[in-house]
Amino acid sequence: MKILKNSKIFVAGHTGLLGSALVRKLKEQGFQNIVTRGHKELDLKDRLAVNLFFEEEGPEYVFLAAGKAGNISLCATFPATFLHENIAIQDTVFEAANQFGVKHLVYYGSSCTYPKHSPQPIREEYFLTGGIEETSEAYASAKIAGILACKAYNRQYRTNRFIALIPNTLYGPNDRFSVENSHVFSALMRRFYDARRSGQKEVVLWGTGNPRREFIFSEDVAEASIFAVQHAEELENHHYNIGTGVDISIRELATLIAAETQYGGEIRWDTSRPDGPMQKLLDSSKFLSLGWKPSTLIEKGLELTYRWFLDHEAGERK
Ligand SMILES: NC(=O)c1ccc[n+]([C@@H]2O[C@H](COP(=O)([O-])OP(=O)(O)OC[C@H]3O[C@@H](n4cnc5c(N)ncnc54)[C@H](OP(=O)(O)O)[C@@H]3O)[C@@H](O)[C@H]2O)c1
Repeated sequence: MKILKNSKIFVAGHTGLLGSALVRKLKEQGFQNIVTRGHKELDLKDRLAVNLFFEEEGPEYVFLAAGKAGNISLCATFPATFLHENIAIQDTVFEAANQFGVKHLVYYGSSCTYPKHSPQPIREEYFLTGGIEETSEAYASAKIAGILACKAYNRQYRTNRFIALIPNTLYGPNDRFSVENSHVFSALMRRFYDARRSGQKEVVLWGTGNPRREFIFSEDVAEASIFAVQHAEELENHHYNIGTGVDISIRELATLIAAETQYGGEIRWDTSRPDGPMQKLLDSSKFLSLGWKPSTLIEKGLELTYRWFLDHEAGERK
């Protein structure tokens, strides 16, 4: 069942990094009937309100980009909040989607659901084969539950309604750009931008800069999500990795972002600080074999993100 140009599509979390990219991409592809609700208008943890919304609006497709997301430090500081909010949102929305006959719902897992010591690149079948990273285990547990829920609903109700995607780390417009609350990409943008503006001669970064990470532009994940729905008949009842297949060292990333923000000072690596895992690269060949591929090189995505950052007085969200 393909999404028609006038199909009613609910993008949950449309003010966020991924949700805003979904709205842009859906509009760009000509979908005209997009429904959104802000967090204050509709708390997706509120079962009664959510059921009423689904009953009244009758969305045919749902992209569930609403959730409590954050960096490792936030996940480690507020584990109960990350666990509770994500479980509550996904449980409420999944139940409503099932009850009110949504055709397809796309859910987003996270690469932190994979075992801490996964071989690289990480294949889908490594899921639940080993212990996960302790610092993000509460958040990861909620995401594991979400991925398993997609499979369980599909199996029990004999549908292919729920689609679970596991994108690697996203970056793009509408992200949070603060040193404390952001993923490394946006936090570095903030650090170098501020350093240039204040004439700082040196920026000190944690670790050796050697760990390698995979970053994917938010709009590529949005395109992959729309593609997944359009090819739902070909999907197995299993989660799919969504990545670029290319990783980059934190040192290389810092150099790229410093150049983009025109920071001309030194970068010093504080090697007394921990590095974290040396690599986190997804094997996305299963999804790529369906015919989708990411189109944004990191240099281009960085340029687009920085342009947005400057246009929005260095990022409004904290
Ligand atoms: N960012 C990544 O690298 C990444 C990677 C893999 C998977 N994911 C997953 O992708 C999804 C989106 O991530 P993101 O980075 O786009 O997050 P984000 O930028 O923090 O956006 C989250 C969105 O959800 C909304 N929201 C949060 N709680 C809500 C609630 N109770 N009711 C209604 N709306 C609520 C937020 O609104 P307010 O801001 O107004 O609260 C915001 O619009 C999450 O499930 C995340 O786990 C993200």
